[in-house]
Amino acid sequence: MPENTSHNDLTTSIEIEFLLEGIFRRYGYDFRSYSPAHIKRRLINKMKQNKFRSLSEMQHHVLHDKNFFNSLLKDLSINVTEMFRDPAFYVALRKEVIPILKTYPFIKVWHAGCASGEEVYSFAILLKEEGIYDRTQIYATDFNNNILEVARKGIYPVDRIKEYTVNYQKAGGKYSFTDYYLAKYNSAIIDQALKKNIVFAEHNLVTDTVFAEMHVIICRNVLIYFNRDLQNKVIRLFNESLVHGGFLGLGTKETIQFSNYNAQYTDVNKELKIYKKKVNE
Ligand SMILES: C[S@@+](CC[C@H](N)C(=O)[O-])C[C@H]1O[C@@H](n2cnc3c(N)ncnc32)[C@H](O)[C@@H]1O
Repeated sequence: MPENTSHNDLTTSIEIEFLLEGIFRRYGYDFRSYSPAHIKRRLINKMKQNKFRSLSEMQHHVLHDKNFFNSLLKDLSINVTEMFRDPAFYVALRKEVIPILKTYPFIKVWHAGCASGEEVYSFAILLKEEGIYDRTQIYATDFNNNILEVARKGIYPVDRIKEYTVNYQKAGGKYSFTDYYLAKYNSAIIDQALKKNIVFAEHNLVTDTVFAEMHVIICRNVLIYFNRDLQNKVIRLFNESLVHGGFLGLGTKETIQFSNYNAQYTDVNKELKIYKKKVNE
């Protein structure tokens, strides 16, 4: 019995390795360095739901049926997020981006890969405190419809509020974080007024088209899951979506440095990965 168990474990880990390699080579999504426990759990769930007898059997469907792959992709996507994640990023936005946005009559912002929306509401709070929320339109997108539903509701577990309050203060928050939510039972409900200028929509960065004429694009902790080719493709999409002089904010472990578009940008804040698209001479 123990022998069988270890044999099964070994077989499963080989199958997972083959499947992830296949996904990478067929579709360009790189899940090979994702947490193995997370990947295994999600793949086995998918296999059971679809009544496949093994991951090898499922592999055939993953590689040959794009719709099936897309549904698996949603299962594999990591939606971890928080309010005012990396607070220094928001401090830099306040100092280096907001003063320029304040000179615009109308501002368009795109949050790509917004997950459950915490990042979007964080930026909305910042815009509100800086007095420019009312003339801003925010598009918040993700390819995972289930997580977008959470984002639309804006209801979060109240036990995360302590951490978010600390982040808010570190991010240069001007008032009290309690101004922005209503605590009810075990939930924190985001202030309705923050939702006014936000449109949540399904959008796949790999297969869907541009959002034109954006002044700011924030896409953090998404590119990290893509290989170089795919990152390049997505950065091209951002490049086509941004106005000249527009800002691009990425996650701390992400960069445009290796993309074909690097020369078209200047660093606003190198460490915090905030870039500005050059204005055409
Ligand atoms: C780790 S979360 C990042 C959330 C937030 N931006 C942050 O930094 O806290 C990554 C998000 O990217 C989304 N995502 C992954 N691939 C995507 C794609 N091809 N198109 C759109 N969204 C994608 C996932 O569904 C997930 O919600």
